[in-house]
Amino acid sequence: MKRGKFVTFEGGEGAGKSTQAKLLAESLEQAGIETLQTREPGGTFGAEAIRDLVLEGTTDRWSGMTELLLMYAARIDHVEKLIKPALDRGVWVISDRFADSSLAYQGYARGLGAEQVKAVHKVVMGGFEPDLTIVFDMDPVLAQKRVETRGEHLTRFDAESLEFHKTLRHAFLEIAEENPDRIHTVDADGTRGSV
Ligand code: TYD
Repeated sequence: MKRGKFVTFEGGEGAGKSTQAKLLAESLEQAGIETLQTREPGGTFGAEAIRDLVLEGTTDRWSGMTELLLMYAARIDHVEKLIKPALDRGVWVISDRFADSSLAYQGYARGLGAEQVKAVHKVVMGGFEPDLTIVFDMDPVLAQKRVETRGEHLTRFDAESLEFHKTLRHAFLEIAEENPDRIHTVDADGTRGSV
């Protein structure tokens, strides 16, 4: 049995990742490839419980390090119970966010530093990485407008300042530059179809 591919979608808030993940899953299915769509933080029963802890409440509820460890606690459950078993069955897994979000949000935007996040990643994940990552790049001012008009439930991160979201954009672009073989950047400021 050929191992499935692990594809992750990354970027700031409001860049349309979730919609595009769904479109990709649909077209893969049409091509006869079994796919599993999932998200982080979350994806398993335990990780979804951690998701509620980390996304709800005031922005200062957790320190950057607590946030990072909660993300990785959720992630290891997700990888061990859902992602790896699916890949072993030959299923392609598409995840709305994965470890690059920890690097961008906790490492850069929360200021923990990239080295600390990479160290935690190595201890918890070993060498496990996505086969392909798409970064959805968008002007944070436009993205914020999209988030507001969608009228969705806002998380602790949506409530952060524009400065925070500008740092995030810069972070994702830098992470993409550091990993040219794995990460592909897409300009997300277009119509659903063109993106
Ligand atoms: P969600 O509502 O799914 O946001 P979005 O639609 O923008 O993906 O909430 C997930 C939030 O969690 C998002 O703001 C990014 C944040 N996050 C981190 O800070 N670190 C992480 O490692 C992950 C996976 C997510």
